[in-house]
Amino acid sequence: MAHFGNYEEHCRDFSWSISERELEYQEGRPFNIGWHCSDRICLQGKGNRTALIWEGLGDKRKEYTYTDLRIRSNVVGHHLRSLGIRAEDRVCLFMDKIPELYIGFLGVLKIGAIAQPLFSAFGDESLFVRLDNAQTSAIITQRKHVPKIRKIIDRLPSLKHIIIVDHDGRKELKERETAFDMDSAPAVESLDIHPTHAESPSVLHYTSGTTGQPKGVKHVHYSLISQYLTTKWVLDLHDDDIYWCTADPGWVTGTSYGIIGPFSMGVTQCVMDIGFSADAWYQFIERHRITVWYSAPTAIRSLMKAGDAVVKKYDLSSLRHLASVGEPLNAEAVIWGQKVFGLPFHDTFWQTETGSMMITNYPTMPIKPGSMGKPFPGITAAVLNINTFEPMSEPGQIGLIGFKPGWPSMMRTYWNNEATYRAKFKNGWYLSGDRARTDADGYWWFVGRDDDVINTGGHLVSPFEVESALLEHPAVAESAVVSKPDEVNMEVVKAFVTLKSGYQPSKDLELEIMNFIRKKLSPLAMPQETEFVDGLPKTRSGKIMRRILHAQEWGEEIGDTSTLENDD
Ligand code: PRX
Repeated sequence: MAHFGNYEEHCRDFSWSISERELEYQEGRPFNIGWHCSDRICLQGKGNRTALIWEGLGDKRKEYTYTDLRIRSNVVGHHLRSLGIRAEDRVCLFMDKIPELYIGFLGVLKIGAIAQPLFSAFGDESLFVRLDNAQTSAIITQRKHVPKIRKIIDRLPSLKHIIIVDHDGRKELKERETAFDMDSAPAVESLDIHPTHAESPSVLHYTSGTTGQPKGVKHVHYSLISQYLTTKWVLDLHDDDIYWCTADPGWVTGTSYGIIGPFSMGVTQCVMDIGFSADAWYQFIERHRITVWYSAPTAIRSLMKAGDAVVKKYDLSSLRHLASVGEPLNAEAVIWGQKVFGLPFHDTFWQTETGSMMITNYPTMPIKPGSMGKPFPGITAAVLNINTFEPMSEPGQIGLIGFKPGWPSMMRTYWNNEATYRAKFKNGWYLSGDRARTDADGYWWFVGRDDDVINTGGHLVSPFEVESALLEHPAVAESAVVSKPDEVNMEVVKAFVTLKSGYQPSKDLELEIMNFIRKKLSPLAMPQETEFVDGLPKTRSGKIMRRILHAQEWGEEIGDTSTLENDD
């Protein structure tokens, strides 16, 4: 039976104390996510249960029980302490989806340090701005990523330790680099868990905005109250479930629901650290008898593209509940899920800043394909007037998605950037930066973002970051970056570039620029197309008008440009 019952009744009777009670939270007492996700599960007598099944390239496979999770996260915590890492120091996790990432995350939290996960495909510049902003003390990484760190280390005086988890002695360790083998280090049976409290910082996730550098979203240990209950009610995890979250912990889905949610519930989860292919994914579900699967629209669209015949090759009968996050989930994808798996995908809407699901579809509530569902009980959401920020009660009106502040996993600030944090609140509402409408039945429908941020395959890319990086290429004089439509990724990055004198547009130059951005920032930020132009549309004061270029790419009305020209 589903954990979640009738939506209206849950809303009526709701209090976060439901979650507090189940997690035995007591105000003023220590509360630590790392402990809750490992030691507590063992204390409940579930130490022998498999916590993590991991598969990597070349048929590599590892398994960890909850006892292993407890002991190995102790090992990580102990090791960090021995290096001098203290509570609230920032420790970056810069790894592919290997066990050290999942277990290391818990180890960092256990000693009260702040976990800063970063997407391992980030290039040196993306890495630098985030480590510099957070004044990170240590980075746990793999050999293959060390060259990117060596490139920027001289500019990062705070970064004292580069901890390499798979060093094989073939290359010399340089200054500040040390080798650490999580699996073979002596077991640490008991570790003094740092007495973090509800408001102690836990995780720092970087997210991209329209302007300025990426922002570090600061979360606290109390976020577990939201993450646990949403995992239970929306993902409907039960003791005997085998769960698969396809997200990378470099992004918030991969930590909130790829580490914290499932481990705090003591279920078995599977991780696949192999690139995407429909066959590989279905085989993975079949092999591990996965029951609950949390994925993303781009992946689902890619599976749809691979065709229905591939699905039929595998026994996917173990699946019982599917969910999705990160971008709009088209109605066709929901219906396709029903057709080929006999189960619809349940769309969930939330953000790095919200820390947990906000508007979602529930196992027991009818789905309207294409709708994000309804606000989680205890979450007050409203469609706000774009100018006055007043809630609009009439269904059908399009406005800004606003949430009443105060849910447990709400970000506490942007790291070192309180002003930008404050600007996210208007008229007593937290603004998500998205637009939506509701219908007469109270279902929410996503309309679009309210800013220029590009959502490519469920990952946010800041046009500002790409434009700044483009300017560092010797041929580029000016640039403007917008999204363009894409069948699978929904949006991809497109760059408009004017060249410095002496440079000529060419296919080679376009490729060179693509590669430049891929290495510097990441494959996600890499422009899929670069258009060389003689000039860029600007306001009278010289600000580039991305909106005109965006409209052009999406075949939309450009509107009254005379007003845009004054639009500074
Ligand atoms: O624009 C919305 C989109 O992704 C943004 C949040 O991105 P991020 O902070 O990286 O977190 C992603 C995973 C939680 C939102 O502001 N977004 C997220 N979920 C949905 C969505 N857009 C439409 N439908 C969704 N279900």
